Amino acid sequence: MATAPSDSFRIPHELWFEELTPGYPVIKVSNRHAKATIALLGATLIEYTPTGSQPVIFTSSEAVFQEGKAIRGGIPVCWPWFGPHPTDSSKPNHGFARDRFWELKSTTKHEDYTEVTLEFDTRQVANELWPQHTTAEITFKIGQALDVQLTSCNRSDSSITIGGALHTYFDIAHISDVSVIGLDGVTFADKVTNKHGSQSGALTFTQETDLVFEKTMATTTIEDRGNSRQIHVAKNGSRSTVVWNPWIEKSAGMGDLGNEDYLGFVCVETANAFDDVYTLEPGAIHTLGTTITVNTSLS
Ligand code: BG6
Repeated sequence: MATAPSDSFRIPHELWFEELTPGYPVIKVSNRHAKATIALLGATLIEYTPTGSQPVIFTSSEAVFQEGKAIRGGIPVCWPWFGPHPTDSSKPNHGFARDRFWELKSTTKHEDYTEVTLEFDTRQVANELWPQHTTAEITFKIGQALDVQLTSCNRSDSSITIGGALHTYFDIAHISDVSVIGLDGVTFADKVTNKHGSQSGALTFTQETDLVFEKTMATTTIEDRGNSRQIHVAKNGSRSTVVWNPWIEKSAGMGDLGNEDYLGFVCVETANAFDDVYTLEPGAIHTLGTTITVNTSLS
């Protein structure tokens, strides 16, 4: 359970709080450029819709809004590691920050966007899960673009290794009418076949896809032809990009995803995955970020 943030964070006619279920607060933002919703659980942004556009972010209609359960959809914050823990498989997939409540630290009104910052402090998790004191601060700038910056800070007196991902679920008209461009020539690890390969041309989807593209800082573009738009995903502090769609069987096997939901989203994740991890000495920081923009000029 989390209590609703203090009224002092409200911004009249622009930012307020609601509860999805009792003890499960969300931050609602509405300004002249966009609407957004951010759950305190995991600091997960679950809605971003620029004014006059279709929703950009997919959230499953079967998502479970409950402490201890990562939200299926939105931008789950995988932290402080990506995927299975590198040495201990008993630790949770994608870290421990996506299914716990974060603390709201500030809200600020700007001319062109609304800014929201939340923080997660590892002192709230068991010592065996993460013994070294570390914080993650995430800032959302919600305007014509959506900018998300996640800063890890090592507050302990020994070095730590940080990975993670902004595991973004993009809402698309239909998976068979989508291409992801910007990864041509980039090598990838294929988590479905356990093989390595190199991308040739645009990436399209005809089956389960779970690819970790390595050594790439490139902006990717999702051509969402059914919605006549392109979604550009720029990134910083990230040398890996994960592209994931569970396809039919996996989708049907997930209790928090509708059977046909795989048709309506693709994950393009701004990641620090596999070898793309950062060693932080005491006091050091690392920022992982993405800027998402949409244009509707696709014909
Ligand atoms: C992706 C991984 O990032 O997340 C996939 O590459 C994984 O392997 C997917 O299946 C979803 O993970 P989870 O833990 O949210 O079901």
